[in-house]
Amino acid sequence: MTTTQTVYHDRVAKLVKLSRDRHVFSFTRFDWSESIPESDWWMSPELLTIYNTPYYEQASEAQRKLLSKWECINLFSLNVTGEQELIAGVAQLLHTPMLKEANEYLHHFIDEENQHMWYFAQFCEKYGGKIYGNKKIQLSDMKLDAKLSILVRFAQIFIFEEVGHYYNLKVALDERVHPFIREINEAHRNDESRHITFGRALLARLADGIDQEYPPETLQTISVHLNRYIQLTIESLYNPAMYRDAGFTSGIAIRTALLADPRRQHFHSNELLKKILGLLRDTHLLKKEMSLEPSA
Ligand SMILES: [Fe+2]
Ligand SMILES: [Fe+2]
Repeated sequence: MTTTQTVYHDRVAKLVKLSRDRHVFSFTRFDWSESIPESDWWMSPELLTIYNTPYYEQASEAQRKLLSKWECINLFSLNVTGEQELIAGVAQLLHTPMLKEANEYLHHFIDEENQHMWYFAQFCEKYGGKIYGNKKIQLSDMKLDAKLSILVRFAQIFIFEEVGHYYNLKVALDERVHPFIREINEAHRNDESRHITFGRALLARLADGIDQEYPPETLQTISVHLNRYIQLTIESLYNPAMYRDAGFTSGIAIRTALLADPRRQHFHSNELLKKILGLLRDTHLLKKEMSLEPSA
């Protein structure tokens, strides 16, 4: 085994052990609050999509709190739909020879995501009365070999998980937020930190040498695809329905204005996506600087 292989092998073995040592049964672990008041913070005000824009300045504290409820429901709904897709995608890759060393860990991955999907859906239904039906991110199929297909799939998973993790970490630590919401964020954060460690290790391992192995056009196609995936992920955070549910007049107009706002774009590129862009560039999966052009 080469050094890279040994490091990867040891890391995956360690993650399997951690998943077993820290295994929880989410279906009974939470003491579900009867209700969560709309006068509470459901997420940190600085994490709201209107933060640092005139919409935030003009909103009253009560409106900001109400929006924090629907933004929380949106983030949790995104987790439900994203985890459903993730489980389906990872299940297809079980027993793939290229992922042989990771196979055991992938079972834990699916097990943990299934539990997350359950509690996020439960939360949305119980406290929001619905799960937002987010558009599935549909991207055109690329003709890629097995290795690049696996790389793209795990790069998408990595993007999805890192974005969610950013919010989980901050909300879990924010004493202004309702304790039960903090607890859910903390529970998710615990499992996700292992998934992200795994994603990083897998991407580094599989992407090692792809710049030599594949022609620049192929890598360019992947880069364009992942760039688009990142844009759609960002846009999904600005769900027009949550602005409407929080009493703002035009959800679509607010979404369009916010996505075009340089202060929001700065936050995306320099804060929310910072680690993601760094890793994807280091592994040759993302080439160009990303420009956030709203698609809708
Ligand atoms: Fe999850
Ligand atoms: Fe995860």
